[in-house]
Amino acid sequence: MEFRSLSEYFPNLIFSFFTKDDVSIDDNSAIKALLIRHKIDFLVNCAAYTAVDKAEAEKEIALSINATAPGKLATICNELGIKFIHFSTDYVFDGNGSSPYEENDETNPVNFYGETKLEGEKNIMMNDPSAMIIRTSWVYSSYGKNFVKTMIRLMKERNEISVVNDQSGCPTYAADLAGIVLAMISKENIPAGIFHYANRGVITWYEFAVAIKEITNSACIIKPIPTTAFPTPAKRPSYSALQTEKIRKHTGMMIPGWRESLEKCIALISPL
Ligand SMILES: NC(=O)c1ccc[n+]([C@@H]2O[C@H](COP(=O)([O-])OP(=O)(O)OC[C@H]3O[C@@H](n4cnc5c(N)ncnc54)[C@H](OP(=O)(O)O)[C@@H]3O)[C@@H](O)[C@H]2O)c1
Repeated sequence: MEFRSLSEYFPNLIFSFFTKDDVSIDDNSAIKALLIRHKIDFLVNCAAYTAVDKAEAEKEIALSINATAPGKLATICNELGIKFIHFSTDYVFDGNGSSPYEENDETNPVNFYGETKLEGEKNIMMNDPSAMIIRTSWVYSSYGKNFVKTMIRLMKERNEISVVNDQSGCPTYAADLAGIVLAMISKENIPAGIFHYANRGVITWYEFAVAIKEITNSACIIKPIPTTAFPTPAKRPSYSALQTEKIRKHTGMMIPGWRESLEKCIALISPL
């Protein structure tokens, strides 16, 4: 949705948006026909199987959507001379690090979703070495379902909520991410390889929730809890901050700090 809403600021580009209703990401021949019919130069793949916990049980579909299908998309883009841009995740890392992960750091996913996304990266790189893969983390937006919107709702419904305080990472406002991608496309400046993008700063989910409480002036009490008090089917990395210097240098664009972007997003979520 952020790509759609930013599209009006890029009048030099002609946009075509496709959803699951138009074509499934694993329907290769339909995708190829669509790309040819719409004379696509750049393909941004936002489709994914993102239910991290459900992926532990629905392995086949998660693997098909996150690994096999992007690999095939890469082959099609390579054949048609289309620049392919794909999103991956901080969950390709095991979280045992203590400083922000760089693009070449060793991957070692701790859950099946992360495994499928890593497999997708490998398939893409093998089939289209000119593709760009952007790993991002903790994505939120004023659209759709995400942590920020869930917290705002829960803070209205409850007097107290508990949030894990031993998982650290970098929140990413989807509008910032879409903005940098569109800026690169409009300059026809899409580099090959893996890049990290997230807002600046490293926080825990608890600190994220406290900031949401402060910005929305909520009276809800936020309690920090350890991950062990909130068991989930899929394990999460305890530290998955991303080092974003490579994309910053490539684009020359400033990456906003997490709090500043959170304030912008919350201002768009109404009614508070
Ligand atoms: N959200 C995060 O915190 C986060 C963090 C790191 C990386 N990422 C990555 O960022 C990208 C975008 O994530 P997101 O949070 O925007 O995910 P999302 O809200 O779950 O969106 C994924 C989209 O893919 C669509 N989709 C699912 N199966 C499909 C299929 N077979 N064919 C076509 N479309 C299909 C979904 O449609 P339906 O809704 O109709 O099923 C949905 O619109 C993904 O690659 C994800 O791995 C996200």
